Amino acid sequence: MKSLVILISGRGSNMQALLEADLPAGPITVISNNPAAEGLKFARTRGIPVQVIDHRAFPSREAFDTVLAEAIDAHQPDLIALAGFMRILSDRFVNHYRGKLVNIHPSLLPAFPGLNTHIRALQERIKIHGCTVHFVTPQLDHGPAIIQAAVPVLVGDTHETLAARVLVQEHRIYPQAVRWFLQGRLTLADDQVEIEAEGTDYGQEVLYSPGIEP
Ligand code: GRF
Repeated sequence: MKSLVILISGRGSNMQALLEADLPAGPITVISNNPAAEGLKFARTRGIPVQVIDHRAFPSREAFDTVLAEAIDAHQPDLIALAGFMRILSDRFVNHYRGKLVNIHPSLLPAFPGLNTHIRALQERIKIHGCTVHFVTPQLDHGPAIIQAAVPVLVGDTHETLAARVLVQEHRIYPQAVRWFLQGRLTLADDQVEIEAEGTDYGQEVLYSPGIEP
């Protein structure tokens, strides 16, 4: 069974969704750059090994990334899942894990890379928003998309209500993508995402239907 390392920085609700998804995974380890990350508590209560590597203890991004990579590699993971990991990773780090590093981002990429996606979505008055699981490449939030889910932006939405609606979908699509990977059905080849499910290669999937509860 394939092993998994999950990187978090805060609340850890996506990590929780992964841990509760009964994934076909071998050993799972959670690593946080933030000793106060809320998500660490849940991981510990589930008996998942956790490790904290506080980025503030390092003089540079590269120095932190080197130690983080050493800690990850000690587990020889097949997949590394960023789940609200709020550090920009160096190109060297990202390239080292090419094809085995995935992220969840709260927008329909390539729209709204970076931070404050829900505030920006409201400012732009878009009607459809959502989230994306993608392979990580050196350009921030630009790696090939694996799966996306869309939600409506409703009259009266605040960035909090919109974020909550998107988060429900994050918790659906992240376990789905990770499950595909762990089952050996999801690969990145020459920058192309390949997904094989039930013997059928059906590529990216969009999970929106108008019936989704707001
Ligand atoms: C999520 O919205 C995720 O898409 C983004 O950061 C947030 C983290 O939330 N990358 P959580 O820590 O998983 O609850």
